[in-house]
Amino acid sequence: MHTLISERQIREGVARLAAEIDADYHGRPLTVLGVLTGSIIFLSDLVRCLNQPLRVGLIQASSYRGPTTTPGELTINTALLPQVAGRDVLLLDDIYDTGQTLARLLRELVQFEPRSVRSAVLLWKEGRQTVDVVPDYHGFKIPNVFVVGYGLDFNDEFRNLRHIARLDAAPGAPANSVPE
Ligand code: IMP
Ligand code: MG
Repeated sequence: MHTLISERQIREGVARLAAEIDADYHGRPLTVLGVLTGSIIFLSDLVRCLNQPLRVGLIQASSYRGPTTTPGELTINTALLPQVAGRDVLLLDDIYDTGQTLARLLRELVQFEPRSVRSAVLLWKEGRQTVDVVPDYHGFKIPNVFVVGYGLDFNDEFRNLRHIARLDAAPGAPANSVPE
């Protein structure tokens, strides 16, 4: 697998994002809401770089993929969502691809009446968007390749890589599931 973003580059990118977020919120209390499962590592690194009062929460979004790189139907689960009414919420996801997940999550969250909602993603895959909504903060723009590591998976594997790698071929996967 080919390294696209190194561990050091990720660390610097996360610190840069945190500085931007700190500057924008001026110490206002924040609820950082990680999207399960891909954002967990990004979430844990980012919150430790933020210098403001915050709470951490989780929301689940899954588009069933299995051993393929094309998304299936999107399901949102708000069972783990903390109280966000009247709070400033920062929604955190691993990657902005078609944008369907982000758009849908933002629509769902509004129903819980937060004071404000912004979004941050580590990666922004260029040229894939099918929605108008764009993330307020992003770490890195990447080309249209399938990536794994630092929380991102293929068939639920590779999340533990410390860097972001381009997945060139899916071991043991059917021919039609080889990433573009
Ligand atoms: P979107 O709804 O198309 O923007 O897809 C967002 C979700 O798809 C992300 O939260 C990831 O779970 C998954 N995803 C999209 N591209 C990749 C990738 O290159 N590697 C791993 N997961 C991806
Ligand atoms: Mg995800």
